[in-house]
This record gives sequence, C-alpha cells and structure tokens, in this order.
Amino acid sequence: MCFRERNVPSFLAAEPARPVAELKRLAGKSALITGASTGIGRASALRFAREGAKLIVADLREEEGESLCREIEQGGGHAFYVRTDVASRADNERAIDCCVKRYGAIDILFCNAGITLAKLLPDSSDAEIEHLLGVNLLGVIHAARAAIPPMLAQPRGGTMLFTASKTGLVAQTDSPVYCASKGAVVMLAKSLALDYATRGIRVNALCPGIIETPMLREFAATRSDPDAAWRSYEAAQPIGRLGTPEECADAALWLVSDEARFITGVALPVDGGFTAM
Ligand SMILES: NC(=O)c1ccc[n+]([C@@H]2O[C@H](COP(=O)([O-])OP(=O)(O)OC[C@H]3O[C@@H](n4cnc5c(N)ncnc54)[C@H](O)[C@@H]3O)[C@@H](O)[C@H]2O)c1
Repeated sequence: MCFRERNVPSFLAAEPARPVAELKRLAGKSALITGASTGIGRASALRFAREGAKLIVADLREEEGESLCREIEQGGGHAFYVRTDVASRADNERAIDCCVKRYGAIDILFCNAGITLAKLLPDSSDAEIEHLLGVNLLGVIHAARAAIPPMLAQPRGGTMLFTASKTGLVAQTDSPVYCASKGAVVMLAKSLALDYATRGIRVNALCPGIIETPMLREFAATRSDPDAAWRSYEAAQPIGRLGTPEECADAALWLVSDEARFITGVALPVDGGFTAM
C-alpha cells in the first residue's frame, strides 16, 4: 500500500484517522523566505515545501535560488524565485506583491537574509555599517511593513518569523554592529507581536547558535587561524557540536505552523544550550 494512501492510526477515540497527505503542516499556505538560496534559508525552503507550502524564494543569488526552485518543483512542490536585495524597500514590496498575486495570499513571511561584519567598531567604515544595517535590520523592517496590510486583509491572518541570532540575546566579541542588528531584530519581533496580537498576526524570532553554513565558513576564514576558530566554534556549544541548517529549519517550521498558534513574541534560541550558560 502506498504510504500516502494509508490512514494514520488515531490514538484518540474522538478523533477520526486522517490520511497522511492531510497532515502536512503547511498545506494550503504560501510562504516567502528571504535569504533562501543557501544555508538556513535553503534548508527551511526545502522543509516548508515538503510540508506543503508554496514558496517565494527571495534572494540576491540568482543561480542558487533558481536551482532551489527547480529542485522543489521537480519534487512536486511549488517555488518561484524573485531576485531580491532585502536592503531595498522596492525589492521587498515586489517580492511580497508577487507572493500575493501568484498564490492569493502571504501566510508566512520568513525574513532570514543576513550578513556579518567581524570588525571592531573603529575599524568599521560607514559603508560597511550602513550595508550591514540595511540588510540585517532595514531588510526585515521593509519586508514586515509590506506584509502587514495583506496579512491583515486575509481572514486567516498570517505569521512572521525573523532570523535573529544568539548574538541578539548575548553579545560576542569583534562583531558589535552585527550584534546590535540582531538585538534590534529580536525587539522588532516582540514589538510587532504586541501590536498585532489581537489582529491575527503572530511574530517571532529565531536565534540560531553556531550553525554550519556558508556564512560561518566565510566568518571563520576572516580569523587569523581559521582551523582553530572552527574547533573553538564546535567546542563553544554545550551540546559539543555545530548546529545544522536543518535543525534551524525544524524550529522555524514549528514556529510558523499552526502548532505554535499560541506562541507570539518569543525569541527562540536554537543553540545547543549556548544561551543557557
Ligand atoms: N550560521 C550561523 O552560525 C548563524 C548564527 C546566527 C544567526 N545566523 C543568521 O542566519 C541567517 C542565515 O544565515 P546563514 O548562516 O544561513 O548564511 P548564508 O550566508 O548561508 O545565507 C544567507 C543568505 O542570505 C542571502 N543574502 C545576503 N544578503 C542579501 C541581500 N542583501 N538580499 C537578499 N538576500 C541576501 C545570501 O545570498 C544567502 O542566501 C542570517 O540572518 C544570519 O545572520 C546565522
């Protein structure tokens, strides 16, 4: 018997068994993910698509974004790439508009795009500071501002998730502007959660610890001894290893799914215990 056709046994007498296909957690939902071409965003796009979401992949990296969409479509899902620089208000508006026109709604906005700046403050140029804040903070503000009106207009509301960082909760050395941007994203999520709590929009932040992604490899490469830096990252988390993009995607999926319908205004560490110290 095909797995999809089989009925899931119900453990509650009052709840009739449902086909597995109906249990997809994002079935019938549309989701826009920024920074979806690589790392945590890519893993989340694949996870959300497997759970039935129709996706807009919004990223600067065209080749990787298009290739991810092909992979999802070939697997029977729906995904459309929109070249987006999140630092641009117009690009964010265009991507959200595309989601609404293509799928009829924007149910999930996952603002995940981000960059790092591993420099002490006096060594950081105006251009570097403005670029980082433009991507990591203004990028989220632009996207959220554009998504709120359509989400309010949809009878089923919507949910937003912002990728902050453990550095939005506890500071780290050598990255003051990055830490400041992530702390601001945490407070943006909490503020918006309060503003829209009774109006059908949930807003949460995801706070990854040290996750093995292209960003981390680029960051390690800026250190004087990249191998030693890598070993120190692995040792830094109480769980004793780096996190994976898929582990972040699992947490993201839960936060945007209806299973988290009573959860708003949280900043969830996905950090192997780092912020418990
Ligand atoms: N990897 C970690 O250890 C770690 C830890 C904490 C938080 N984070 C956060 O997780 C998020 C994802 O990072 P990642 O580790 O997967 O890195 P990554 O470099 O693999 O992914 C970042 C993605 O953002 C995209 N991007 C960058 N600038 C953009 C722009 N201006 N417009 C649109 N897209 C843009 C990139 O093309 C890429 O697809 C970031 O917000 C990052 O700050 C990562």
